Amino acid sequence: MVVIERSKLRHALIGCSLGPCLGAILLVIGVPTNTHGQAAGRDSEGHQWWQHAVFYEIYPRSFADSNDDGIGDLNGITRKLDYLKELGVDAIWITPCYPSPQVDFGYDVSDYQNIDPMYGTLEDFDRLESEARKRGIRIIMDFVMNHTSDQHAWFKESRSSRDNPRRDWYIWRDGKGPNQPPNNWLSTFGGSAWKFDPTTGQWYYHFFYPQQPDLNWRNPEVEKAMFDVTRWWYRRGVAGFRLDAVDTLFEDPALHDNPVLPGKNQYGDPNMANLYNTKLPELHGVLERLRQVADEHNAVLIGETWTKDLEELKRYYGEHSNELQMPMDFLFTRVDKLSAGEFRKQIAGVNAAGWPVYVLSNHDIVRSYVRYGDGRHNDEIAKLMAGLYLTLRGTAILYYGEEIGMENNDPKRKEDVKDPIGRLGWPKEKGRDGERTPMQWNSSQNAGFTKAKPWLPVDPNYRTHNVESEGKDPGSILNFYRRLLELRHQNPALLEGAYVPLNEDDPNVLCYLRTYKDEAVLVVLNMSAERQTTTLNLTSQGFAGAQATTLLTTLATHPERLSLSSVSVDPFAVYIGKISK
Ligand code: NOJ
Ligand code: CA
Repeated sequence: MVVIERSKLRHALIGCSLGPCLGAILLVIGVPTNTHGQAAGRDSEGHQWWQHAVFYEIYPRSFADSNDDGIGDLNGITRKLDYLKELGVDAIWITPCYPSPQVDFGYDVSDYQNIDPMYGTLEDFDRLESEARKRGIRIIMDFVMNHTSDQHAWFKESRSSRDNPRRDWYIWRDGKGPNQPPNNWLSTFGGSAWKFDPTTGQWYYHFFYPQQPDLNWRNPEVEKAMFDVTRWWYRRGVAGFRLDAVDTLFEDPALHDNPVLPGKNQYGDPNMANLYNTKLPELHGVLERLRQVADEHNAVLIGETWTKDLEELKRYYGEHSNELQMPMDFLFTRVDKLSAGEFRKQIAGVNAAGWPVYVLSNHDIVRSYVRYGDGRHNDEIAKLMAGLYLTLRGTAILYYGEEIGMENNDPKRKEDVKDPIGRLGWPKEKGRDGERTPMQWNSSQNAGFTKAKPWLPVDPNYRTHNVESEGKDPGSILNFYRRLLELRHQNPALLEGAYVPLNEDDPNVLCYLRTYKDEAVLVVLNMSAERQTTTLNLTSQGFAGAQATTLLTTLATHPERLSLSSVSVDPFAVYIGKISK
């Protein structure tokens, strides 16, 4: 791998140590700012901060343990901010760190306005926020909107009596008969979606675990209380939210049974189409109004949007681009093999839908290193995938550890499983522990994550795949990510350019341009295990007879310039070059 052109310029850091005073100046001259003191501005192309930002998802239990109790924490994240800054991260999304019984490892929130003691305190959060801000890194919190914990004060009140003022904050119904739930809806985590509560003799609805009762978003008091939660965090300096499980906010009030499909799911329940309890049109009204609150704070809303097709994904941007700025494109993660044709199709589709948001992995999905790796060229393939999602038009969200090639470390025995869906669905469903293992900082015991026993075992590949060792190796995945992110931050075509697919019939090599004014960046990705030779004719794109000047490549020959008439690409190699008119 070689980098021919490396800018000495780092990306402009909005809100660096000058942040507070810059904010004050902007306020005086009347430019809208958020609580970060960051200008709500757009650049010359109309792009906003989140369109140029690189986001990084942190699963706080597993990132860095500052007090050696085996569980990561906020102070651990603060200590690693310099690492993140050097990597090229502009915003971190922290999965839920609120007080929680941890049935779903934080996605069961018992208080939205505090920090769970296992992760620290609100003061720790404030310090993290201000240290991040000094480095130009914004914080995105996870907003678990669909449900609370059954230990949340709201639910405790709601379940206490049928006439409690918060009764209607959740979804309570009579059963069809003795021991019979109100209808056939299933929890996505196995079993009926209804749980009988003997205190009041009614059933409550939970799309996820029984300890995660669904809020009733038809009740305006729920909306107000939840929107106020976001205002409270905006005032604390957060730059936006990742909205959990937005697909499931509303249910059919008439409780029609869902259609039953042939076969059984991984829990042995019937397969079912969640027609009447997911993606109801009412949810878009909530998103529009939540966006209005976000806009008052120059904040961004990222959606956990599991859409079946591009039409559904498009709908989440809002009919007037007034809902989510960043609905995640999970259809991209479903292209589950290295297929130039399938990626090409998906990229073209999401480009037409809106501003694309690319993710390769997260805390619910098997790591991309395993999904795309062939067992022999995994490191090369990890760089290939980085070369793909970090050069496309759109915003990318990295999952922690992706930049060092972390693998899944799935439990081998049922008794070791921590994630309840793994215990319930074993052995078909092993749960999500494998993709949530501790971050690999160095080759010492527990990969430098903790001195105690880590809450999940570190993957054995930490001996070779860790930040310290890879930092010293110019050919490592980590150094490829660093150089690529640096390029992405300073190259105008990668920041602003249009996506132009090339050689659309090639089944092995995915090629495209990012064009901007008189320049373009050419990206060539060999998705096959064989050397490929390809010809590029860019006449119709206005770059006739062009040669490319190499910016970053994993080609063994690392040419300084590349003739486009015959481009020879090593197996799984990446080539990124600049061409001019
Ligand atoms: C989606 C989250 O990503 C997942 O981890 C969680 O279990 C469910 N939503 C329920 O909150
Ligand atoms: Ca800890």
